[in-house]
Amino acid sequence: MVWIWATIGLLALVHILQAWCRNKKKRLPPGPRGFPIFGSLHLLSGEFPNNDLHRLAQKYGDIMYMRLGLMPTIVVSSPQAAKLFLKTHDLVFASRPPHEGAKYISFGQRNLSFAEYGPYWRNMRKMCTLKLLSNHKINSFKSMRREEVALCVESIRAVADKGHVAVDLSENVSSLIMDMSCRMVLGKKYRDEDFDARGFRSVIKEGVQLAGAPNLADYIPFIAPLDLHGFTKRMKSVNKAFDVFFEKIIEEHLQSNDGERTKDFVDVMVGFTGYEESEYRIERSHIKAIILDMLVASMDTSSTTVDYALAELMRHPKAMKKVQKS
Ligand code: HEM
Repeated sequence: MVWIWATIGLLALVHILQAWCRNKKKRLPPGPRGFPIFGSLHLLSGEFPNNDLHRLAQKYGDIMYMRLGLMPTIVVSSPQAAKLFLKTHDLVFASRPPHEGAKYISFGQRNLSFAEYGPYWRNMRKMCTLKLLSNHKINSFKSMRREEVALCVESIRAVADKGHVAVDLSENVSSLIMDMSCRMVLGKKYRDEDFDARGFRSVIKEGVQLAGAPNLADYIPFIAPLDLHGFTKRMKSVNKAFDVFFEKIIEEHLQSNDGERTKDFVDVMVGFTGYEESEYRIERSHIKAIILDMLVASMDTSSTTVDYALAELMRHPKAMKKVQKS
């Protein structure tokens, strides 16, 4: 036990010295000084970290420097400053830092949303934009979307006809979006229980929650092996469930010889297998990471947007009438 703490202490000391030497050479924006190792993490301990950051920005300015654990972090708090980072100096800040969630859930950070900026991200993004998210490809699924919306409306009408007036619209919208995403990405609908005992949506939800949860290991990487929150174990289990499911789906696609059907995202991605650049070669893990990205990126975003749109329409009957007429 003593040697573990001695090693952690020594590593911490090396990190602090390195950071101190680096910071001496740099001119950094103003910000709180922070403690050794933990930096200013304690300043974000409120229920809403965005409010904590807002309060700090009022003291230190629109562009603020703070260390979160050992991670140097710049916090930008005005539209003008955001433009500098996202537009003027976009390339310098385009990359995503290493992230435990992306490492364990998204097949070693091989997905688009969390990949480092570099040749892999640039080429995959180009391929995805041209082959998966082009107008042509999205239009090829138009009839499928109509079909699914009609089925959803029909099932709500059937419940209403039976005299049950209370319908959980969010649940209906969430299933509708899941069905449309599955058909577009995987080629057919899957029921929650086709996935594993926990169900498709609940595992996606757990993955999204784990990836977004504050994780000390992201800020103080040398403590990651200790898995203090128990997140790593859960993230590996979420990844395992996706891995098994996607392996089955990829195999089904490889065995399929139905040349008539509209090519889904898995067909297109499988077609990239073996594509090589000097820095990477597209293998199964890359394909699985992109499939997962497309499912996660399309499901929660779309159903939340539709939920909000429906809630707003219900609050504004005039607008609702207008939509119903058009
Ligand atoms: C209303 C629905 C949606 C909203 C509000 C939304 C919003 C966003 C936002 C804000 C980003 C981050 C952009 C950035 O970091 O620059 C993003 C990225 C992304 N979205 Fe969406 N999205 C929606 C639907 C979809 C759908 C349907 C798909 C796929 C079928 C999708 C795939 C992606 C992917 C792959 C990325 C990562 C792109 C990258 O990092 O290069 N999204 N989305």
